[in-house]
Amino acid sequence: MHCSSLLSTILLALTAVAKPVVIDSFVTLPISKRVNFTGTSTILERDLARAKHLRARAEARLSGRAIVNEPVDNQAVTYVAAVGVGSPATTFQLLVDTGSSNTWVGATQAYVRTSTRVECTATSTVAYHWMTWIGNEFLDQVTIAPGLVIPSQSIGVATSSDGFEGVDGILGIGPVDLTLDTLSPATTSTIPTVTDNLFSQGTITSHLIGISFEPTTQVEALNGEITWGGTDSSKFSGSINFTPVTTTEPASEFWGINQSIRYGASTTIQGNTAGIVDTGTTLLMISSNGFSAYTRATGAVTDRTTGLLRITAAQFSSLQSLFFTTNGVTLEFTANAQLWPRALNTAIGGQANQIYLIVASLGTPSGEGFDFVNGFAFLERFYSVFDTGNKRVGFATTPFTTATTN
Ligand SMILES: *[C@@H]1O[C@H](CO)[C@@H](O)[C@H](O)[C@H]1NC(C)=O
Ligand SMILES: *[C@@H]1O[C@H](CO)[C@@H](O)[C@H](O)[C@H]1NC(C)=O
Repeated sequence: MHCSSLLSTILLALTAVAKPVVIDSFVTLPISKRVNFTGTSTILERDLARAKHLRARAEARLSGRAIVNEPVDNQAVTYVAAVGVGSPATTFQLLVDTGSSNTWVGATQAYVRTSTRVECTATSTVAYHWMTWIGNEFLDQVTIAPGLVIPSQSIGVATSSDGFEGVDGILGIGPVDLTLDTLSPATTSTIPTVTDNLFSQGTITSHLIGISFEPTTQVEALNGEITWGGTDSSKFSGSINFTPVTTTEPASEFWGINQSIRYGASTTIQGNTAGIVDTGTTLLMISSNGFSAYTRATGAVTDRTTGLLRITAAQFSSLQSLFFTTNGVTLEFTANAQLWPRALNTAIGGQANQIYLIVASLGTPSGEGFDFVNGFAFLERFYSVFDTGNKRVGFATTPFTTATTN
């Protein structure tokens, strides 16, 4: 039997029997940031490869073309969560990824079969920007946090994977359509994500997640959290402003939004175009013409070693804010927010006394439906909400929006 058909049977059974206990408030999973720069690719090469891969994958799905991957050997910056599988649970360190939607384990830490595992005959394959992972698909109990248990989550268990030193797999929290074409034999149905299952089994009453990241100058810090089913008001200030998921392809395949970017009072960087919000990207990536406008406005030059833009201390003192407008609401992204944390310069192969910027080019012009990637550099300054139920993305300011962190 296929996992997906098996899963529908189980879900039907669940709805027919009593609903599991509903938790009054949201439940939170702590996540930690790691900067571990060990490969030879620069941080820019790594983010570029991811952006190209995400875009190619979406375009391939939309048009039936093949995907070409550019391998990179560096994950560099990751957000990682500890998730339990089985009963008694084995705990896995998983990358938190809004750009993919399969959950799988076993890259480094071995998966332990317990009585909660249900066999299925499918294998699954997911290509990431730095590798392809292959494994067997099972149904098993997944424990995200105390009280946040999915008795029957479809997960992959790796039979082959490379490049995953230090992490055991992926917690895929992107839109469910990204799971299409990942099972073999192929199915026409999607594999419900952990968020989908928590909602359909009644554990959470709102079909959404909220994510809090914070800027850090440490190579490893427990400084983030995901909440399922609600937003954690202790992590943001003011209200959450929502914008609908964009209808523009290929950004529409992801947590994609329409957004315009301005520098200072009146310099347009990009008009109101489509791009994505992504927890698997480190930098703030924009179109090639947007990047030229930003480079002209700031006077920055490209640093050969890191691949990032670099400015002088004098240029930093006159660096203006960037302003992001989504759905009529403008968020200010300060000069300080545009800097790579100086305490981590040497962690990415840079020099301690230089000033590097986190704005980078996608290498493609605006107007192609994939004009920006708001990665960690952006998400560490704003609380973000990924609302599946209402097909929208929300942002709110936080105590870190205007903080001076480096
Ligand atoms: C950092 O990466 C290296 C090599 O890729 C790996 O051996 C190590 O376990 C990683 N450290 C952490 C904390 O993830
Ligand atoms: C986003 O921009 C595109 C192109 O201008 C437009 O067609 C669309 O209505 C906008 N809004 C959404 C939610 O996609």
